[in-house]
Amino acid sequence: MNIDPSGSLGEILFTEEQIASRVRELASQITQDYQGKSLVVMSVLKGSVFFLTDITRHIDLPVELEFVKISTYKGTTQPQVQPRFEHGLPWVHGKNVLLVEDIVDTGETLHYAREALLQNGVASVRICVLLAKEGYQSRGGCVPDYIGFCIPNLFVVGYGLDYQERFRNLPCVAVLHQSGDGESK
Ligand code: IMP
Ligand code: MG
Repeated sequence: MNIDPSGSLGEILFTEEQIASRVRELASQITQDYQGKSLVVMSVLKGSVFFLTDITRHIDLPVELEFVKISTYKGTTQPQVQPRFEHGLPWVHGKNVLLVEDIVDTGETLHYAREALLQNGVASVRICVLLAKEGYQSRGGCVPDYIGFCIPNLFVVGYGLDYQERFRNLPCVAVLHQSGDGESK
């Protein structure tokens, strides 16, 4: 893959195989936890798209799928705006919603999404993330119910995660070094 001049791929944190194996474990836990209940799996676009399609195919329950888009990072590696739903929320009143997101960093995005769902009268909301960045608990945001992997406080890309819309289609999760990181290799 061609590398953006402003960012170069570093260490692979999780290979395709490691991700697939962990995704199956999470799916099996979710299957157990929602036995006998209805379930709406709500994907937070775009970062969770590969995670969503992989995990739902291993959840052995009749799930409904919904998609929401929440703006936060505007093409940089730092949050610049308050989260907001770009196209509103689907009608999920009275349903059990499992929000699926790529990563929790400050937890603000998921905190916002969870509060909005509760205000819209869902029966329950749980949160499933592929990655949780070290220290997310102390940043005051949301604490996920299901976490694929905990990672150091680094910017990562791949398996849906992007830097300026690039690298989403990497099958693994890798560290992105940016110019100015002091890691100019
Ligand atoms: P939070 O609201 O600070 O938890 O940020 C969550 C959102 O920021 C995620 O949905 C990602 O889109 C983005 N984000 C946070 N950290 C990273 C990263 O390391 N790589 C790519 N996107 C990230
Ligand atoms: Mg995202």
